[in-house]
Amino acid sequence: MAPMTRSRADAEGVPSPLAAEYYAARADAGLILTEGTGPSEAGMGYPRTPGIYSAPQIAAWRQVTDAVHARGGRIFLQLMHVGRIGHAANRTSRDPLVAPSAIRAAGQMWTDSQGMQPNDPPRALELAEIPLVIADYASATRNALAAGFDGVELHAASGYLPNQFLSPNSNQRTDAYGGSIENRIRFAVEALTAIIAAAGSPGKVGMKVSPGMPFNDIVHEDPMPTYVALAKAAAALHPAYLHVMRTGIGAETVLREAFSGTLLVGGGFKRDEANQAVAEGRADAIVFGSSYVANPDLLKRLEKGAPLNEPDTSTFFTPGPKGYTDYPVLA
Ligand SMILES: Cc1cc2nc3c(=O)[nH]c(=O)nc-3n(C[C@H](O)[C@H](O)[C@H](O)COP(=O)(O)O)c2cc1C
Repeated sequence: MAPMTRSRADAEGVPSPLAAEYYAARADAGLILTEGTGPSEAGMGYPRTPGIYSAPQIAAWRQVTDAVHARGGRIFLQLMHVGRIGHAANRTSRDPLVAPSAIRAAGQMWTDSQGMQPNDPPRALELAEIPLVIADYASATRNALAAGFDGVELHAASGYLPNQFLSPNSNQRTDAYGGSIENRIRFAVEALTAIIAAAGSPGKVGMKVSPGMPFNDIVHEDPMPTYVALAKAAAALHPAYLHVMRTGIGAETVLREAFSGTLLVGGGFKRDEANQAVAEGRADAIVFGSSYVANPDLLKRLEKGAPLNEPDTSTFFTPGPKGYTDYPVLA
């Protein structure tokens, strides 16, 4: 099950009590990846998204992991630091957003108090602050394990902080974290290394990437050399998996070659194509997103070849049970 933001948490980033029911209903997925979750207050930017940096957040997540484990499932928490994607109205922190460079991301996001708003301008992280951001990923990992998660996924896709370091348009640093490929992958590799050390085992850690995805104002001409270098550096750390979101540039094929470990691929898969991709060895497992929103019993439906409920996009990010815990299951 793909990581999917559902915006049901409270204003302090505490997951909704409904989250346990939502995730437990999908416990027969081979592995659940949670919605993107802030490793620190600084890493929050969206309305009603959860964090994993406060005691109430950890306690609420414990309800989720207990419910999933009670149904025999496995669940990794996705660690998502927004970097330059966010708005003050969605944040408890009064500090500005932080990013590789002080370049505002084009685009708007929803705020509950002011409607659609442009992303706030970020400030550039000082060189000396970068280890502190990395340390936040490590402490978030320890918190996730304390909350009962089986592991964590580093969100290095979709234009968030690690992706902002990878991409030249959002990273114009002239120090060891910008410029060359080796420098632009440094943040993601250091974060992954620190997360693995905090988890105590590489098998408890995965990483998601989305080469070629322009979401959140990422402009990256010829991204594959950067992602091949990242995949090779990641492989040397022996994580549980590399998770690639397909974007139409064939990155999943290139990364299958470059990455020696387990490869998860997602993005627009339906049953037959998923089975074929695994049978042909193009992926070790396929990740399903929006079809999991609408079908808590997706596994059963795929096994039976039963029709799927259609996801209602209007309730993807709205508070409450509608479109969250009320999709029908097969009789
Ligand atoms: C409602 C929604 C929320 C999403 N939130 C996240 C997220 O928090 N983190 C992430 O890595 N991807 C997120 N995605 C992307 C999915 O993980 C997945 O890559 C994408 O939906 C493609 O898979 P699909 O075609 O099976 O839906 C989200 C997708 C949807 C539909």
